[in-house]
Amino acid sequence: MAPSNGSPYVRRIDAARERLRAAALDALVVTHLPNVRYLTGFSGTAGLVVLTQERCLLVVDFRYATAARDVLERSPAGVTLEVAPRSYDEALVEVIRRLDLARIGVEAAWMPVARFNRVSQMLAAAGDVHLAGDSSIPILAPTERLIESGRLVKDAHEVARLREAARRLSAVARSARLFVRAGLTEQEVAGEVEAALRRAGFERPAFETIVASGPNGALPHARPGPRTLSEGEGVVLDFGGVYDGYCVDLTRTIGLGPWPPGLRRVFDAVAEAHAAAIAAVKPGVLPGRIDAAARDVLERHGLGEAFGHGTGHGLGLEVHEEPRIGRPVTGIPETPVQPGMVFTIEPGAYVPGLGGVRIEDDVLVTPTGCEVLTNVPVEL
Ligand code: GLY
Ligand code: MN
Ligand code: MN
Repeated sequence: MAPSNGSPYVRRIDAARERLRAAALDALVVTHLPNVRYLTGFSGTAGLVVLTQERCLLVVDFRYATAARDVLERSPAGVTLEVAPRSYDEALVEVIRRLDLARIGVEAAWMPVARFNRVSQMLAAAGDVHLAGDSSIPILAPTERLIESGRLVKDAHEVARLREAARRLSAVARSARLFVRAGLTEQEVAGEVEAALRRAGFERPAFETIVASGPNGALPHARPGPRTLSEGEGVVLDFGGVYDGYCVDLTRTIGLGPWPPGLRRVFDAVAEAHAAAIAAVKPGVLPGRIDAAARDVLERHGLGEAFGHGTGHGLGLEVHEEPRIGRPVTGIPETPVQPGMVFTIEPGAYVPGLGGVRIEDDVLVTPTGCEVLTNVPVEL
């Protein structure tokens, strides 16, 4: 079937081909499954793509042959299906030899060294016999971010999904008081939240739901445990869902009855930091500036040391992806924020013995500022 120009996959594959050209590669082997999905729409738990200037081959195994064929028929983008008769590595080597590829990029962040060595050895072993012309052996070249750099700015197809996902997540969050009740354990609350996510149409939670009550709130990534919630304490509720492949992520800190002494002040400071960071989001600004907007507020309130993580992270096919909204890191250049980026804003403050507060929303950068995709009162 001829590729349709309306398909987001055609545009994504074309853009990736340009980056291949710039990197002087004959091909890119895409093994990171979110990147495979981004290029082809295929969402199985195994598979790889071999992308060249002329072809885009999706290699799957027997378990996914029918599902992959269906996906490619529904979203035709000139992707050809290959079913690996035995192992993926053997299929990959066979494709590289058949297409006579010489310089083959691999995704260094997602290719174990053992696999890199194994495939290189298989190519070397096959080299003399099968390569046309000279006796050169195909080379695997480590690459970084060739697909991720395209995923950084969401296309219209992705924005539509993220917007709908955030709308659904907000509805679950607005009913959080139904689940966050004195007398329930953290584990029971997490179970109720995850059941509500499924009822709201999410295919699965985006990560293990965090319910951190009382002093446990001081642990930014606490696991829900057997502790029973009681009146007079704060509860950090951080949850997310995956909707049509796209991840959204939200946190509210809920006071059960009266706030414990001291925690209200922390709540107000975090709410101010959250608002300041959202106000700082606009095209051209560096992520470090957005982070500083939140951090400066917390420092002014004497809570600088209590905010030990970054202000946010990108959302998309993965719950933690680029861009990183944090303090600049030596050696990693910052990319200015651009329209179409989607990321969280989630400052927090954690005070051992007292508890913690985090407030998290998801924003889409627009030409003039940002749209807050999640729509939930800061205080529930
Ligand atoms: N719970 C993961 C996050 O908010 O980033
Ligand atoms: Mn979260
Ligand atoms: Mn988050």
